[in-house]
Amino acid sequence: MKIAIMGAMPEEIEPLLSYMKDIKSFEVANNRYYEAKYKGLEVVIAYSKIGKVFASLTASVMIQHFKAQKLLFSGVAGAINDELKIGDLIAATKLCQHDLDITAFGHPYGFVPEGKVFIQSDAELLFLAKEVAKEKNILLKEGVIATGDQFIANLERKEWIKKTFGADALEMEGAAVAVVCDAFDVPFFILRAISDAADMDAGFDFDKFLESSSKISADFIISMLDKMV
Ligand code: ADE
Repeated sequence: MKIAIMGAMPEEIEPLLSYMKDIKSFEVANNRYYEAKYKGLEVVIAYSKIGKVFASLTASVMIQHFKAQKLLFSGVAGAINDELKIGDLIAATKLCQHDLDITAFGHPYGFVPEGKVFIQSDAELLFLAKEVAKEKNILLKEGVIATGDQFIANLERKEWIKKTFGADALEMEGAAVAVVCDAFDVPFFILRAISDAADMDAGFDFDKFLESSSKISADFIISMLDKMV
């Protein structure tokens, strides 16, 4: 069983790499991939670079080239739901693309023909995450994550995403990974720790909390691996 773990930025995967043994590094399609062992599990780790296109490319390479059979994403997100504070964890139950818009043709936001507005996360991985949270007494919220090629630092846009998709958090890669995994029938799990509230302070907060929130997310992913061993 080979497990892919991806982030979007170096800060999101560095804490994961620090737990790994026998790391081998490969370059594929202009990106670096790390094959490694964690307590007997085979893993492949990479950061994609920011945004949906790079995230799709990396998820595809992890599945097609590295033969990953499950994919876990670890990183940070902006909070939409007021209950989510900086450092809190959210696991996506389903994901959507908030910036996908062909409403001019009568379609709903987030939809293109032969696609779907929401992609559901794998139920078994979500169950495993809830077990980990319970055992470790960690608060893990579940909810809808909205993805788009925009850093949101704007209350109006944030409210629109909340109202249109019922989203709890937003980021820039999750739904792209979900589309790829869904197409290849690879179970996936998207975890995010909150770095900001997608408001006018978001840029400042993101820079301030990227590292600490990335570590919170990565540590939870490691606990999930511990349970898979
Ligand atoms: N990831 C973390 N915070 C974000 C924000 N405010 N907008 C988009 N992606 C994010």
